[in-house]
Amino acid sequence: DRGNYRHFMQKEIIEQPEVVAHTLAYYLDLANGAPKQIDSAIDFASISRLSISACGTAYYAGLIGKYWFERYARLPVDIDIASEFRYREMPLDKGDAALFISQSGETADTLASLRYCKGEGLTIGAVVNVRESTIAREADTIFPILAGPEIGVASTKAFTCQLASLASLTVHAAKARATLSDEAIAEMVHDLMELPRLMTEALKVEQEIVGLSRDLAHASDVLYLGRDTAFPLAMEGALKLKEISYIHAEGYAAGELKHGPIALIDEDLPVIVIAPFDAVYEKTVSNMQEVAARGGKIILITDVRGAAASSVDTLKTIVMPDVPNFIAPIIYALPIQLLAYHTAVFMGTDVDQPRNLAKSVTVE
Ligand code: F6R
Repeated sequence: DRGNYRHFMQKEIIEQPEVVAHTLAYYLDLANGAPKQIDSAIDFASISRLSISACGTAYYAGLIGKYWFERYARLPVDIDIASEFRYREMPLDKGDAALFISQSGETADTLASLRYCKGEGLTIGAVVNVRESTIAREADTIFPILAGPEIGVASTKAFTCQLASLASLTVHAAKARATLSDEAIAEMVHDLMELPRLMTEALKVEQEIVGLSRDLAHASDVLYLGRDTAFPLAMEGALKLKEISYIHAEGYAAGELKHGPIALIDEDLPVIVIAPFDAVYEKTVSNMQEVAARGGKIILITDVRGAAASSVDTLKTIVMPDVPNFIAPIIYALPIQLLAYHTAVFMGTDVDQPRNLAKSVTVE
């Protein structure tokens, strides 16, 4: 039931603060600022490497997870698109573990990667929304994302709940591997607890984005740029836009701009720059200057501090609340989803059932 919403996708975007709160409550002891005892066959303390495979949006969630596991838990992560992973004959170590991220739990390539890793003797974790799914059944451990049923073909709340699950597992891994002090871990839990409130705050830009979507609807191509965890988010933003509006879009690491895509910049190309005010903010801004110098139309998504610090002329600056770096990708996912959604609505496409796409991809 989509209630008063025009599309399931819109409902699923709006309900994210609420569902993410459920996800966090499963993994974290919010009152004590610590990870909660959960059912896990993966011993994060003893593994030396974690392999992640997934497809599409779930793969982008995994990429963000890689930044987190490596940064906070000092756990090296090998990640690949499942359709590549299953055939690339990667050397794997029996004592290690693998995570398979899938909303449906039925994606054929992700399942094949799981079976490959199982055959190599790895411990298998399934980060899934559907607990009765094949991927969940064949795993040693289920890490539920608890997003509730997702009806819109373009994934939204499953993405942020995958991120909330991976962020929580990072806290578990950091604790198990003793890479952070209890105080630092309590701070991460505290940051995560703030998510529902900050996500509600972030969703308030919806009306501004409705205005902006009119500009985007006329574009034939859109470029998304970001660094660090905003890089996978740039790819997710581009995927979301192309899926439901059919506008060609690409997501790039901002530092790659001068290695090719800068050739595309002209007055007709909207460039969406995702740049929270963090350690790489200045670097991203210098890439943005390169776009501005060539007449590119910039849409900057940043926070209050980032907006104050930027002197580059933008077509529009979307201002997020100032949030801790750790949780920024979960906040910045929201304006990106809204931008794709409203552009598609303005263009009149079938938002919940875009052409050529299936919700669950059970064939290779
Ligand atoms: C994008 C989207 C797809 C899925 C991909 C994996 O909006 O929905 O890219 O993320 O097909 O599906 P699951 O997560 O079910 O394995």
